[in-house]
Amino acid sequence: MYASEIRLEGKVGLVEFCSFEDSLHPCSNAILSANKYIRKMKGGSQSILVRANDGRHYVVKMTDNPIGPNLLANEHMGSLVAKAVGLPVAEARGICLSDSFIDSHPDLWFELPSGVRRPDKGMHFGSLFVGQTSGPDRPTEYISPSRVSMITNREVFLGMYLLDVWANHQDNRQAIFRRSSTNAQEVCFIDHGHMFGGPEWNFKENPASALHLERAVYNDLWQDEQVTSWISRFQTIIPGVLASIIPSMANEWYTGDLNELQRTLIDRLLRLQKLVNADAERTWHLSQQKSIDESPRLSDLGIRELRTPETRSAFHRTRATA
Ligand SMILES: Nc1ncnc2c1ncn2[C@@H]1O[C@H](COP(=O)(O)OP(=O)(O)OP(=O)(O)O)[C@@H](O)[C@H]1O
Ligand SMILES: [Mg+2]
Repeated sequence: MYASEIRLEGKVGLVEFCSFEDSLHPCSNAILSANKYIRKMKGGSQSILVRANDGRHYVVKMTDNPIGPNLLANEHMGSLVAKAVGLPVAEARGICLSDSFIDSHPDLWFELPSGVRRPDKGMHFGSLFVGQTSGPDRPTEYISPSRVSMITNREVFLGMYLLDVWANHQDNRQAIFRRSSTNAQEVCFIDHGHMFGGPEWNFKENPASALHLERAVYNDLWQDEQVTSWISRFQTIIPGVLASIIPSMANEWYTGDLNELQRTLIDRLLRLQKLVNADAERTWHLSQQKSIDESPRLSDLGIRELRTPETRSAFHRTRATA
């Protein structure tokens, strides 16, 4: 039994994990199989939308996809770690594609410069589709700055940014926005394939890469106490989660050295406050350089600039006296 207390914005909740092997791990008896092919999704990994035998829809990323060897392991670890620390992510499941399913739907085969390649049968990574797959309530990845204030759980963007710094996410943070009946928006994070140094597990600093493209989502979120609180939560929860996930990772989902990855991630966890300071600082410098020739636009500003007015002026005072 693994349990951890979560404190966020003054709220306290209890997240419990009976066992990752039993309930969350896709290699468990929770594996589903695809029984209806819907369509190919956009994007480099050439994922597909299927309906599984639980009647729900999943975006499936397949082993041997064109993006890279550790993509599925990253998706899996990213989903479980984010969920464990209390961030909203699409549910992860193992989805089996049979030979007959693959043969009956040549549309789902990989299209490569060298020609078409048939995916392998077996267990692939499924991300539970967020919202409706068709119709007016289809979710969107785009949010306009004017609608940002309608995101009911917007504070999670700070937590996700910090988690992505830890995980050395090499791509922009993707999110799905789902509209509720009251026209409010709820965010759910997707696409963790470029976390953990990217699909090659090649850790390199890449300032601002982990931010969502619409920087207005971070407006006024940065507060030092919240940053400290997220980091200490990560340091409490993540080691146990990694220790649970890594030994049971499906062999087909990675080619790199998982133990080495685990050591790197634990080391980054211990240094996370420094990594975050460095990333936020570099992001800020980058945005300053960018804005020399341009009038500053919100989307050009770094994460530190997205503090509340009070903390922002404190930050400038600190810089001025440094
Ligand atoms: N759980 C989900 N619910 C709804 N839509 C999803 C989900 N997961 C992925 N998608 C959609 O599927 C498409 C591909 O997803 P994703 O970005 O994860 O793949 P990708 O191959 O990394 O694409 P890209 O290279 O463009 O980032 C996107 O349009 C995304 O919005
Ligand atoms: Mg993507």
